Amino acid sequence: MNPRICMVGSSNIDLIARVPRIPAPAETLIGSRFQMGFGGKGANQAVMAARLGAEVTVVTKLGRDVFGESTLANYRAQGIDTNYVLFDEKEASGVALIAVEEGSGQNSIIIAPGANFTLTPAEVRLASRAIQSAQIVMCQLEVPIEISLEAFRVAKGGGGVTTILNPAPAANLPMELLQLTDILIPNEIEASMLTGMPTSTDAEVIAAARKLQEWGVKTLVITLGSRGALLINGNNEPVFVRAEAVQAVDSTGAGDSFVGSFAYLLGSGRSVREAVERGCAIATRSVLRTGTQTSFPQRDEVADLL
Ligand code: RIB
Repeated sequence: MNPRICMVGSSNIDLIARVPRIPAPAETLIGSRFQMGFGGKGANQAVMAARLGAEVTVVTKLGRDVFGESTLANYRAQGIDTNYVLFDEKEASGVALIAVEEGSGQNSIIIAPGANFTLTPAEVRLASRAIQSAQIVMCQLEVPIEISLEAFRVAKGGGGVTTILNPAPAANLPMELLQLTDILIPNEIEASMLTGMPTSTDAEVIAAARKLQEWGVKTLVITLGSRGALLINGNNEPVFVRAEAVQAVDSTGAGDSFVGSFAYLLGSGRSVREAVERGCAIATRSVLRTGTQTSFPQRDEVADLL
């Protein structure tokens, strides 16, 4: 049986320029290659899970424009259930302006959320059946926080649904959202912003993780880019999972590749630790190609990890 996953969250179109370095304030910089593609943290995570073989439903809102129409077509092409893809008649589709630094593959991202921010809790409730019949519900913070909250309330109303929150971009998390979250997956920057603590060294990452645990987070995975990830599962000791060292070409969406893979692997019966280890390995492969969803491996490319 393929895992059933429901994603409630964002869809964007990514406008990506490769640049010699991330521009300073007020600086105009000549870049090199331009690439346009499908993105949005929610969409990316949904596509990654679907690519590996999950049955995925998305609850998301698009603008009534060419970006919205092509995003809908992309979801369909990936075999994703689009019954809960909504359109806003006034707002434009979400767009992300992304600069990718040549050499390091690091990026900086500006999001114009558009229709993503018009999704309402009532619209989330309309998707209750899809949410409650999923094994896993994934949310991020590129839609209003009440949307993630409502999705998890609905998920927990059904019983038996595992909730994964990727708190990106970082925001203050209401206590109710933390309590409804089974697995929290911030990256090291988000963990630092959430806790107000540094996360540059392993010891600092563990200290920040302990703070998040004090707030009631049950299972925590802090992704650390090329350093891998830290897992704290319940009362178990913290475990660092190291990523293979590679020459990154473009890290855009690597975190989403991890979350989507992790959800697929967990839903397929892997332990949390196995899902972190294999998810890290899949995300590492995603940094070897340019673009966001275009860089995500196909199932047959990572069959050894599934
Ligand atoms: O995580 C990468 C994603 O962040 C991009 O696809 C962009 O759309 C932003 O949402």
